[in-house]
Amino acid sequence: MGKFGVFLDGVLDFGYEEQKDGSEWSRELRSKSIEELDQEVKERTPDNQLELQEKTCQFIAQQVRRIEPELILDVATGRGMLLEKLAPITESSSQLVCVDLSPAVLKEVRKKTKNTNPRAKINYIACNAAALPFNDNCFDMAVSFFGVANMGASIVEGISEARRVLKPDGSFLNASLIIEQGSESYRLLGEYYGERAGRLIDFVLSSGFRESHKLAGFLDVRLEIIGESVLKRTSMICFLWKETGLLLG
Ligand SMILES: C[S@@+](CC[C@H](N)C(=O)[O-])C[C@H]1O[C@@H](n2cnc3c(N)ncnc32)[C@H](O)[C@@H]1O
Repeated sequence: MGKFGVFLDGVLDFGYEEQKDGSEWSRELRSKSIEELDQEVKERTPDNQLELQEKTCQFIAQQVRRIEPELILDVATGRGMLLEKLAPITESSSQLVCVDLSPAVLKEVRKKTKNTNPRAKINYIACNAAALPFNDNCFDMAVSFFGVANMGASIVEGISEARRVLKPDGSFLNASLIIEQGSESYRLLGEYYGERAGRLIDFVLSSGFRESHKLAGFLDVRLEIIGESVLKRTSMICFLWKETGLLLG
C-alpha cells in the first residue's frame, strides 16, 4: 500500500526524512526566518554564481511562458529560487505543484509566496521525488533547478519519475552543472563528496547528463549552455562549472 499524506500548514506531507547533506531545512529554519536564511546563503555565494543562478531561473521561466503549460511540476523546490520566477506565471495561466523532501522549507516558501504573489495557483507536497505520489501522464511540463542533481543515488529515479508523470508530449527542463572530466574541478568534486556523490559524479559530465536522461526514458535530449563560470573558492567547494538548461521532448 502506498504512503498517506497529512495536510498541515498548507503542505501535504508524506512523512519522508529531510536530506541531511546541506538541506536539513527544519534545523536551519528553527532559529531564523527564510528571508534571513536566503540572505545568509546570498552573502556566501560568489557574485558570478548568483548571476548564473538568476540567468538560469529566468531562462526556465521564459520557456514556461513560451510553452504555456496548464500543469507544471517543480522537482525539489527547496528555498524556491526558481519558484520566485514561476509564481507570477501561475497568477494568470498555469498551475504549479512544488515537491520537496522537506515540509519545513515548503511551509516557509509557501508563506513567502503568498505575500509576493497572493493569486498564485500553487500546491506544496512534501514527498520523495524518486517516488512521486501522482498518476502517470498528468503534468504538461516539469522543471528543476539544481533539484535532481541533489538527489545523490536516486538521480535516475528522480528523472524517471518526472518522465512517468509527464504527458507523452511534455518536456522536462532540468538545470544542472556540467564539469569537464579530468579537470581540477572534477577531481575536487569527487574529493568533496567521496562515496556520498552517488550518481552525481557521472551526472556532472555532459555524457553522463545525457545518459541519465536517456536511461530514464527521455528520447530527445537537448543540452543548452546558459552560462559559464569559474567558482571562487568558498568554504565548501570550488570547481569549474557550466550551468545548463535541458529541454526534453
Ligand atoms: C539545491 S536545493 C534545490 C534548489 C531549488 N530548486 C530552488 O529553486 O531554490 C535541493 C533540494 O532538493 C531536495 N531534495 C533532495 N533529495 C530529494 C528527493 N529525493 N525528493 C525531493 N526533494 C529532494 C532538498 O530537500 C533540497 O531542498
